[in-house]
Amino acid sequence: MAKDAKSGSAGSAYTYVDHKFDVVIVGAGGAGLRATLGMAEQGLRTACITKVFPTRSHTVAAQGGIAASLQNMGPDSWQWHLYDTVKGSDWLGDVDAMEYMVREAPAAVYELEHYGVPFSRTEEGKIYQRPFGGHMMNYGDGPPVQRTCAAADRTGHAILHTLYGQSLKNNAQFFIEYFALDLIMDDDGTCTGVVAWNLDDGTIHRFSAKMVVLATGGYGRAYLSATSAHTCTGDGGGMAVRAGLPLQDMEFVQFHPTGIYGAGCLITEGARGEGGYLVNSEGERFMERYAPSAKDLASRDVVSRCMTLEIREGRGVGKLKDHIFLHLDHLDPAVLHERLPGISESAKIFAGVDVTREPIPVLPTVHYNMGGVPTNYWGEVLNPTATSPDQISPGLMAVGEAGCASVHGANRLGSNSLIDLVVFGRAAAIRAGQVVDRTSAVPSANPRSLEKIMDRFDRLRHANGGTPTAVLRDKMQRAMQEDAAVFRTQESLEQGCKRISAIWGELKDIKVFDRSMIWNSDLVETLELENLMANAIATVYGAEARKESRGAHAREDFSARDDANWRKHTLAKVGEDGKVTLTYRGVHTETTLPMDKGGIDPAKIAPKARVY
Ligand code: FUM
Repeated sequence: MAKDAKSGSAGSAYTYVDHKFDVVIVGAGGAGLRATLGMAEQGLRTACITKVFPTRSHTVAAQGGIAASLQNMGPDSWQWHLYDTVKGSDWLGDVDAMEYMVREAPAAVYELEHYGVPFSRTEEGKIYQRPFGGHMMNYGDGPPVQRTCAAADRTGHAILHTLYGQSLKNNAQFFIEYFALDLIMDDDGTCTGVVAWNLDDGTIHRFSAKMVVLATGGYGRAYLSATSAHTCTGDGGGMAVRAGLPLQDMEFVQFHPTGIYGAGCLITEGARGEGGYLVNSEGERFMERYAPSAKDLASRDVVSRCMTLEIREGRGVGKLKDHIFLHLDHLDPAVLHERLPGISESAKIFAGVDVTREPIPVLPTVHYNMGGVPTNYWGEVLNPTATSPDQISPGLMAVGEAGCASVHGANRLGSNSLIDLVVFGRAAAIRAGQVVDRTSAVPSANPRSLEKIMDRFDRLRHANGGTPTAVLRDKMQRAMQEDAAVFRTQESLEQGCKRISAIWGELKDIKVFDRSMIWNSDLVETLELENLMANAIATVYGAEARKESRGAHAREDFSARDDANWRKHTLAKVGEDGKVTLTYRGVHTETTLPMDKGGIDPAKIAPKARVY
């Protein structure tokens, strides 16, 4: 570590600390910590930078569980899990990545168990598994399979605490409450590190590394109502965009069916897995009409759309008929106490409801971003070209919700997120162990890149326009909520593009009131707003261009899936001026394990109508 006080022009006013590591992970949620642990275990000099204390990362809020075909509660197989994941993705996911995830899932969960995750148990002491939406037996023929491994309804909390403890045990070095500003890029496009601001003492830290891993989570806070923490601001996507890299499939934004009406907090799908059901104002269990087989456990995009239709057609509940009821009051209070203690408490605090007696008022709420920084299934970032769609961007990986491998395609199944985090955090560590040369020197930082990073930081710190950050953020969130919602039309999306582009223009007029370097939350929120905007603008432009309905992207004017023209990934590059350039990349449709070696029959996962 070295200290110095000069760098670049605007940068000369700052105090710098320089670091050299083999690998630097940005973000300490489930994916970041699993990558950190895996890298540190192999003896790589590993740093993890995080803007919040690791166990406050958003994974802590993951409730229902982690999918893996352990067969603890009945028959299951990775082939069934693969089928459900392919169908859930509405045939947009990369099949090789999905196959890797479901095959590795059981080992990854047992590894968590051995690290110390306190899973709930069956009578025989095995890991407890519950049903979750879209996870079925027999290649979708049903009934629902019990595949989701749970630690009550606090699974993410249990995983995060365990992984943090294990990372410390393996001597990973944590830089906590450091805000990552930007990637250090060589002129040839190689990533050689990251610059971060220590919020606590105001110093600027230049981390040089042989590999940087973005594990910064999603960008749910681009919307007004989200189950995501306020820290979910797409920082990795923002950094990737400023480094000239594309974002993939950003138009696919998941609405979770059961956010608490008004507050937006999550009520786990595990509630329906344990027997809960939705009703409209007529007391009807309407999901039976829309999804006769899976009913309330149909895939999330399907349930969210059905709820929205019920409300639109006048069958919503409440004074304004603008939400739906989730009933758990028929369940044994002992089950609620043992399996769903967290949401019982949330319902009390945020809706004033005693779940043993009354239904919970719920509404589809933004929950997850299927899109992100494109990667292969080792977590290596892709910068596709016309002749090389899987071209690797050297020195950079992305994992978890920040990345797009793409295992969720157009719609993610519940509990496939936690398994994505640990399987691909682990895969990135395995890959880094193979490609990072421990004996070579850590690359030195490109001065032009450093200067650009500090010029931007300094400009925002001293921004003196007429628009406070919070005002512009509110405008962005309302535009996204209204124009890129559960149902979309050409008109709403064109309006969304216009509104978000205009807001991009207004970033020039931003006003930061606090110029200090210590715990300057005004400046942090401004940096976050720029990151959110990079993600938001890619989302609306990608959605406007995609003239079909697929997964979470439901267009009223193009209501069918169009595989001939649109079974392809969107790549969005965003210029400094906010201009979005879209290109496309083919979906990987092939598995890697041949049928005669136990692989799935490709005919099983060929595209067909998606009914539940
Ligand atoms: O409903 C839930 O517990 C959320 C799980 C998930 O998003 O995977």
